[in-house]
Amino acid sequence: MELVAWNKSLETGHPIVDGQHKNLFAMINNLHTSIQEGHPNLVLIETMEKLSAYVETHFKTEEELMISHHYEQYAEHKLEHDNLREQSLKLIKLFGMHKVDLTATVSQFLSDWLKHHISGNDIAMIKWLRENAIVDSKG
Ligand SMILES: [Fe+2]
Repeated sequence: MELVAWNKSLETGHPIVDGQHKNLFAMINNLHTSIQEGHPNLVLIETMEKLSAYVETHFKTEEELMISHHYEQYAEHKLEHDNLREQSLKLIKLFGMHKVDLTATVSQFLSDWLKHHISGNDIAMIKWLRENAIVDSKG
């Protein structure tokens, strides 16, 4: 069963960012299913690593967007990204060392984090960019 479904209330209005968010949800669902189906650790760690690499691509996209438009909340937003980067690395490392089990709590945490971050930070960021940079630049 799907853990998270993207819905209109999570739409930022930026096609690239929204496309990446949809991909992230699909990957989190995939991880969740793999955990629930009891896939071997080797498969789970690969899935986690792929997800983490895609999260990095996505964070970079947003951070470059914020930097190029001199977004006023950049530092706060980047801090949230950095916290998740750090937690993911720690988790992958501990899991690789067999110190923690990957359970549905992990996919649940990721999906909650993403929904919370999108509705709180990403939507506000794209709104600001539209009002202060993108719209202005169109004259
Ligand atoms: Fe973000």
